[in-house]
Amino acid sequence: METLYDNHGRPINYLRLAVTDRCNLRCFYCMPEQGITYLPKKELLTFEEIIRLISLTASMGISKIRLTGGEPFVRNDLMKLIRNIVEIPGVKEWHITTNGILTAPHIKELKKLGVASVNLSLDTLDRERFKQITRRDEFSSCLATLQALLDNDIAVKINAVVMEGKNIEDLIAMTEMTRNKNVSVRFIEEMPFNGAGSHYKSFTWSYRKIYEYLKLNYPDLEKIHDHANSTSYNYKIPGYSGSIGIIAAFSRTFCGSCNRIRLTAQGILKTCLYDDGVLDIRTLLRSGANDDEIKNQLMKAFSQRPANGFIAEERRKNHTPVHESMSTIGG
Ligand code: GTP
Ligand code: 5AD
Ligand code: SF4
Repeated sequence: METLYDNHGRPINYLRLAVTDRCNLRCFYCMPEQGITYLPKKELLTFEEIIRLISLTASMGISKIRLTGGEPFVRNDLMKLIRNIVEIPGVKEWHITTNGILTAPHIKELKKLGVASVNLSLDTLDRERFKQITRRDEFSSCLATLQALLDNDIAVKINAVVMEGKNIEDLIAMTEMTRNKNVSVRFIEEMPFNGAGSHYKSFTWSYRKIYEYLKLNYPDLEKIHDHANSTSYNYKIPGYSGSIGIIAAFSRTFCGSCNRIRLTAQGILKTCLYDDGVLDIRTLLRSGANDDEIKNQLMKAFSQRPANGFIAEERRKNHTPVHESMSTIGG
């Protein structure tokens, strides 16, 4: 299989697919308290459409899939979709990003179906703060998922968005999780993707500040290898089982090696997290386009990718910064 490249010479081999825009939490950094207006069901890609698209992109060399949302497990029959995805020729690895609330009962089957890793959103180790951040009292469900993932020997990355006034007191406790658990705990810069934009006063916790804070508390923090297309700068505390990552999601330092495209739950192609959608694939599918026509449109989009997330943001139709909810953007 030949490698697919974009107009900046970056390989494209990774599809992030949002299976729903719905969520069972209301994380402060992602949605307003009342939630967002969800898509009507008929606007979502159907399972048949998703399978057709993954088969098509896999035939073009896109071999890594990540299911995202919203919360993937809120979509009815998600496991049925996964059972079909694993059968698609050319899909070499598949992953899920989940908040862990509905996940635990499915973990044995995820393992059986060969999930490569699960990224779990968990911003705090304190039940009260969890409630404040997510606006739901579901801390124990998320922890049960974490335990089940570890018990089933599934690679786990924990995603913690770093927020002044919300979870700074957790940074050390979460780092300590890596002492005995073989997990990667990733501290993420907050992006203003909360469906409102109102609480986002100033950007305090940059990747540099997160690093300095950790280094101050762990002077022997050690840099370890980052894989070629990593979004995280990775570290380890000598003697600890797991590792620490820092994701410069807002500073966008990793765009030069970005190998990923996104498909929103309604079938809009995004060639950057920060663009506002460059191709309406759902309409193309539903207008009866054949595989070659869809591939041609995809190739055209890949030949016009913005070099980085700042340029993508400038190119948006209304020229305003992104403030939509991450749940609609699709992780
Ligand atoms: P893998 O590399 O497959 O492990 O994925 P990931 O760690 O990038 O995925 P995950 O869904 O766990 O996302 C973790 C954080 O990174 C989230 O806050 C994402 O929004 C952010 N992120 C993921 N991809 C991008 C990207 O292309 N650009 C930016 N700026 N942030 C991203
Ligand atoms: N900024 C940074 N990361 C975010 N996520 C959701 N909203 C934001 C935001 N505003 C993260 C969640 C989830 C991942 C897909 O994106 O923690 O793990
Ligand atoms: Fe749901 Fe994820 Fe958004 Fe939290 S960040 S409300 S878990 S989609």
